[in-house]
Amino acid sequence: MIKTVEWTDAGVRFIDQTKLPTEETYVTCKSYEEVADAIRTMIVRGAPAIGVTAAMGVALGIRDSQATDLDGLKCDLARISDVLAATRPTAVNLFWGIRRIRNKFDEVSSQPLAQIKQALVAEAQRMLVEDIAANQAMGQHGAVLLPASGAILTHCNAGALATCGYGTALGVIRAAVDSGKKLQVFADETRPFLQGSRLTAWELMKDQIPTTVIADNMAGAMMRQGKIDAVVVGADRIAANGDVANKIGTYSVAVLAKEHGIPFYVAAPISTVDLDTPDGDGIPIEQRSAREVTHMGERQVTPAGVGIENPAFDVTPHKYVTAIITERGVARAPYSESLRELAGMGVEV
Ligand code: MRU
Repeated sequence: MIKTVEWTDAGVRFIDQTKLPTEETYVTCKSYEEVADAIRTMIVRGAPAIGVTAAMGVALGIRDSQATDLDGLKCDLARISDVLAATRPTAVNLFWGIRRIRNKFDEVSSQPLAQIKQALVAEAQRMLVEDIAANQAMGQHGAVLLPASGAILTHCNAGALATCGYGTALGVIRAAVDSGKKLQVFADETRPFLQGSRLTAWELMKDQIPTTVIADNMAGAMMRQGKIDAVVVGADRIAANGDVANKIGTYSVAVLAKEHGIPFYVAAPISTVDLDTPDGDGIPIEQRSAREVTHMGERQVTPAGVGIENPAFDVTPHKYVTAIITERGVARAPYSESLRELAGMGVEV
């Protein structure tokens, strides 16, 4: 399995996603500041992956804290958490990951400092294992929804690289293929950062799942020609009413899918469900650097000085979502009830 994120004694190790698909290189972040930079610069990306990464970042910062008493350690915890929380605003998993480590801190705070540190590192490592297990469970719940044969469209990368392994949307596809379904994948290239053509295509090819990359503006024509049987995407945040924030361009795909009568599935762990945000209008949308749009690699592709917009995510209203696949089961409309019910089945949300 691809090691997207890994805890090592030297620090948190990542496959450098900015270098894929042409170079498979790894970087080790030796401080929480370096971990924060890795999230900000998208060495690591994808909602579940950055949730676990943020948790590891906090654990790393606390492990290396020079504080000599509990108050000092608490101060460091607040500072480290703030730095990591300021990296990317949309994926709620980031805040979930930090909160989980802070909850663990509260739980063990009566213990000696060395044991508190150990407990936080162990919790972050546990979160990685749980993430993979959640994706595999999601795969089992979602695989049955896909046709016995046909073509699945996906957008961005909601695969092993966006998680600690296996993937959410791509996990559903992997599980369906493993169960004997004859599927091929169409991967939207996903302008401007090209997660679809660089990352989704790379990891599906490694698994020998037939994959075709299309430019984002080709999805409608493919649907009209009857070439797409289902859409499966991931999510960065799902509001209480089922509105889904995901990579920019997802909304267009969802509207096209509805127009063509094609099921549109969202696969995400319960940690992506944000019951505190009533609907999609309350989800903060990250604006990224104009350079992602003005340049392809080193090459400038827009005239100097032209206006640029670069929202990294959009919101798909829940009316376009056929079902939300989680590790606890499949939610269907009305999502305000089904998501609350699934979230209530555990303690994380
Ligand atoms: O900006 P990114 O690459 O972090 O955005 C990622 C996505 O939008 C993914 O589709 C989403 O996080 C789901 S990840 C399983």
